[in-house]
Amino acid sequence: MIEIVKPTLEHLPSYKAALERGWSPDNVRLEEATREQLVVIEEDPVAFLAGLDDPEAKGPPISLPDGTTVPRLPGFRRWIWDGEAAGSIGFRWQHGTAELPPHVLGHIGYAVVPWKRRRGYATEALRLMLAEARAVGLPFVEITAKPHNPASHKVILANGGKLVGHFFEDAAYGGAESLRFRIEL
Ligand SMILES: CC(C)(COP(=O)(O)OP(=O)(O)OC[C@H]1O[C@@H](n2cnc3c(N)ncnc32)[C@H](O)[C@@H]1OP(=O)(O)O)[C@@H](O)C(=O)NCCC(=O)NCCS
Repeated sequence: MIEIVKPTLEHLPSYKAALERGWSPDNVRLEEATREQLVVIEEDPVAFLAGLDDPEAKGPPISLPDGTTVPRLPGFRRWIWDGEAAGSIGFRWQHGTAELPPHVLGHIGYAVVPWKRRRGYATEALRLMLAEARAVGLPFVEITAKPHNPASHKVILANGGKLVGHFFEDAAYGGAESLRFRIEL
């Protein structure tokens, strides 16, 4: 099966190879994020890894797809690992509240490399990440998914998620319709 690992130099070559195969760990910025990460990994791998683990939000502001920047939330990323890089799962939150600013699309986001999909990896990775969300004291997490993403809906529902509503993504993302799920912790 899989584990979710804190990214280290030991995991990096396999992760980099997945990026080089064209996979993107970022479901919003897609290839742009892949290219950006390959550059940073080349320039300063240690800084790249450090930036993935930021529970105090020390990193730079976040760029949204329309180019606006917003303050970074506390967060960290784990890599989905089956002996090699199989995907990425991120968690971000605000201290002291389960609320998120309107431009933040959910507490948890994930992506599995295309060549390792449909093996239950995302379902298990989310299950493992929920323990981390519980550990920071959140009573629930929200996860958003596009209406036409049945695989993601199944991952959320298999982890006890309930659909709580439809909404329109912030204008900075283009305003598309999306679904909001909630998982009580
Ligand atoms: C969504 C995603 C993470 C699922 O990863 P995965 O490891 O393949 O998911 P799982 O193997 O845990 O599958 C979960 C369920 O979805 C089903 N599923 C997987 N791919 C599917 C597809 N393309 N169409 C319909 N159902 C699908 C699986 O069969 C499984 O259902 P089951 O439990 O009834 O068998 C992966 O498809 C992905 O990375 N997509 C691109 C990024 C993305 O959309 N991320 C989520 C944003 S909200």
